[in-house]
Amino acid sequence: MKPYSGQRIDIVSESVAEAVALVDRRFQTRGIGQRRLGYDPVSIMNIFSKVKAAPRRVFSMARSADITEIASDIITRRMSITMGDLQGLGMSLRFVTAMDSNCAMKNMICNPADIYRQSNGVCNNLKNPMWGSSISAQPRFIPAHYGDSKNIGMIPRYLSVSGEPLPNPRHISNSVHNGGTSPPRGCQFTVLLTFFGQFVDHDVISTPTKEDRGGFEFRCCNGNMPVSRPECFPFGTPPGEFNSTCMHFVRSEIAPTVDCLPGPRNQMNQASSFLDLSVTYGSTQQTEQDLVDFSTGDQRHTENPFLNSIQTLFLREHNRIADILHGINLHWNGERIYKETRKLLTGIYQHIIFKEFLPALLGDELTLQLGLLPKPVGFNTQYNENVDAGTRNAFGAAAFRIGHTMVGSLVGSSDQNFNEKHNIPLENEFFNPRTIYDRKNFGVEGMLRWMLSQFQSQSDRFLTPTVRNRLFQTRPGNGFDLGALNIQRGRDHGLPSYNSFRRHCGLQPALTFFAGPTGLVDQDKGAALALQMIYKHPDDIDLFPGGLSETPLKGSLVGPTFGCLIGLQFLMYKTGDRFYYENQFPHTGFTMEQLNIIKQQSLSSLLCRNTDIHSVQPKAFVSPLPGIHRQPCYSFPRLGEQELNAWRERH
Ligand code: HEM
Repeated sequence: MKPYSGQRIDIVSESVAEAVALVDRRFQTRGIGQRRLGYDPVSIMNIFSKVKAAPRRVFSMARSADITEIASDIITRRMSITMGDLQGLGMSLRFVTAMDSNCAMKNMICNPADIYRQSNGVCNNLKNPMWGSSISAQPRFIPAHYGDSKNIGMIPRYLSVSGEPLPNPRHISNSVHNGGTSPPRGCQFTVLLTFFGQFVDHDVISTPTKEDRGGFEFRCCNGNMPVSRPECFPFGTPPGEFNSTCMHFVRSEIAPTVDCLPGPRNQMNQASSFLDLSVTYGSTQQTEQDLVDFSTGDQRHTENPFLNSIQTLFLREHNRIADILHGINLHWNGERIYKETRKLLTGIYQHIIFKEFLPALLGDELTLQLGLLPKPVGFNTQYNENVDAGTRNAFGAAAFRIGHTMVGSLVGSSDQNFNEKHNIPLENEFFNPRTIYDRKNFGVEGMLRWMLSQFQSQSDRFLTPTVRNRLFQTRPGNGFDLGALNIQRGRDHGLPSYNSFRRHCGLQPALTFFAGPTGLVDQDKGAALALQMIYKHPDDIDLFPGGLSETPLKGSLVGPTFGCLIGLQFLMYKTGDRFYYENQFPHTGFTMEQLNIIKQQSLSSLLCRNTDIHSVQPKAFVSPLPGIHRQPCYSFPRLGEQELNAWRERH
């Protein structure tokens, strides 16, 4: 780093002032001529990735991040220093001081006596109150790799190590993710596993895309022509595949770090990261209050009817428990009942994740190896205040999108005997709640039974054409390719290459494209060839196609790289959550008796209690076909008045 001179203070504060003026001017004009909302895929995509709640907070955070980014650019240019120099202790202190009144991201003072988690996740960690909170920057496993020479992030990652542009995302998708008409189904796990995964995804991450001041969408293609503006990152598609050869893509909204330290851009997470059912309850005080109007915590729940059914299940269980708790503790007011019910249901939800969901997704071995499995009974306190539970960028933008391969092409319903009643193409049901209300043919119960009895699509590198060619389609040819979007999103977020993540996981990076030693050791020959056909250098491979094309580990649905990233992330959700249900914290946790009641619960028992299903397999994610029989609902552990007596407050 260059020696400090007094002149630098002026340059730093002058540059920040210049950046403020620039950002505010740009913000005033942002969105002019963009107000064209309609029933088309762009508008539907906009609903999906919209700023969900507290738009003011989102915009003030985005403004601070924009100023940080532009000021970093000006300073490094004017002073001919690198970003590394700017991030050095002396310079960054000066930067933070100059940013002060323009920095919307400050640490909070917490009250350690608070009993319940906050809906926005703030103060879960008492030392670093903003860790894991909603409307904050997504932390990273490894540093970002963007396309601009200073790695600030204004330009997404777009260059190959050879200096040429990286391959086009749709071409990669065509080469690596195209499984033909209908990729095969698996033979062990149910459709419920896939959509419970999506439910968890919506709980821990929600990345808004950039919107104009009025909350309207940007249009990034003008017919076949890409629109050139900083918020857009569209890409070309081969002629004849879609109506337009330009695929619309808006860049993700960004957020500053605490105190607005200079550094490469980070994307925003508007959900709280913790496994706290914010998907049901909301990630801000406002959404939590809106629940009384029967909305849910995450507006993406109507994205598909299965997700909607799972949401309904949790809402029903909330109301059921709240009623009983009210009867047991007549002196509790509405807020107390709500908070105790939320705490208890979140405990059950966490138990389902660590006991049932992760062993199915990652396999028993990896779950055990990483210490993710709950103890059969009693406390298991592994809380570590130095762990940031924040959802890592690569987890949301690539690794946990593994669920996209498990999505099939149908929405179906089954009768009381689990015989299929109906099925219809999923592509007509995006953001269409009619199947939920059509109780005769579908309905929540019918769809849950279908999810419990049908095999999910196989976990491989292929995506069903429903989402790879016709995502959010409203007319033939006007849909999106979800695989290509995932690849482009990774570049937008500055995710380093697949090989960089392999190194992070202690796995051997590929030096060649061969499916063998020194090459793509975890891919089969077909997958290695598909990657070789499209990439120039193994160091160019994007994380999503690289990870998804790995052969799953034995007994698992994921390969080693995604297994590592997903496993580490859930370990952080466990050890970085002060309110994790197994923690022995008398003030905020459960009593031993309460905890052991929670540990008897399962997704199957939840289904039994809240639907008209009479019998179900004990493990809801495992298909009942090969020798696992359904059991009558009365044989499952209950959670009625007798059990909830453990929540009776003695005073
Ligand atoms: C019908 C089923 C599904 C559809 C239509 C769907 C669609 C989408 C879309 C459109 C995006 C945003 C793409 C972009 O970056 O522009 C997305 C993001 C994502 N999806 Fe899915 N998805 C589905 C199922 C799943 C499943 C089953 C999982 C996991 C088990 C999953 C995990 C994710 C994750 C983690 C993100 C990133 C979310 C964020 O950062 O806000 N999705 N999905």
